[in-house]
Amino acid sequence: MVSSGSGLATFGIASSPGIPKDTVATTLVAPLDDEDAVEFLFNEHGEDIAAVVIEPLPANNGLLVQRHEYLAKLRALCDKHGALLIFDEVISGFRFKDGSYGDMSGVTPDITALGKVIGGGLPVGAYGARTEIMESLSPLGPVYQAGTLSGNPLAMAAGIMTLDLLDEQAYDRLEELGQLLQDKVEPVLEKHGNPMRLVRRGSLFWFSPGSDAPPPRADMIPSNAGVLYSDVHRGLLDKGYMLAPSAYEIGFIATVHNEQHILGMVEALDQVLTALEV
Ligand SMILES: Cc1ncc(COP(=O)(O)O)c(C=O)c1O
Repeated sequence: MVSSGSGLATFGIASSPGIPKDTVATTLVAPLDDEDAVEFLFNEHGEDIAAVVIEPLPANNGLLVQRHEYLAKLRALCDKHGALLIFDEVISGFRFKDGSYGDMSGVTPDITALGKVIGGGLPVGAYGARTEIMESLSPLGPVYQAGTLSGNPLAMAAGIMTLDLLDEQAYDRLEELGQLLQDKVEPVLEKHGNPMRLVRRGSLFWFSPGSDAPPPRADMIPSNAGVLYSDVHRGLLDKGYMLAPSAYEIGFIATVHNEQHILGMVEALDQVLTALEV
């Protein structure tokens, strides 16, 4: 909240009021995709850095796919300076057959934060870590944590059922539908000369504004992103397809979707783009 996120980006706000100055003062912000910037911060403040927190597949401000080398460098810097590496997989967790995005990227964090999928639609968050770290939590260790809805039976039941349903077949199916979307959408965007590109990892997709290579950093997203997206969003909504209401938010394919949904949306997109041309 010091400097991040689709909500802030949508409204052109740099950081959120309500974050105490002292909290901001204990946070260093580095650009994504920039090993040198993080190394510089570690060289300057290495002794004081407790942890690096990152979405390894940043999906909260566009879908900003990071290079393996960048994530591996974060791991190496944390190891060198005795800091923890924390992956925020609240969005990306349980989206991939081979596990989390951390597993896919081959970089192992010390702590992983999860949400969304594990709640099966109900509000729940979770985190996991190396044994040594988890053992420092109450009741085994001194770090106290509790909450009214912690371990809420309804949310746990929904989450367990969701994870049970997400077997290999389900992930294969999501990948199949994702590939179908990609194969069908790209020619439509191209046909209309529309400067948006589909960025996709598994069932996560994003209409990246601009025809350049997908941006790895938020400041590389063209400033006209909202303008490009809003007419498309409105047009699709009129035709019964509700994409995320912000150019900086991503889309999700779910197990309830089928070929007709994907093909129908692509056809609707074709019609919307045609209408926008006249
Ligand atoms: C990447 C990411 N991390 C963390 C959060 C916060 O999760 P929660 O709403 O469970 O606190 C969000 C919120 O949607 C998110 O998108």
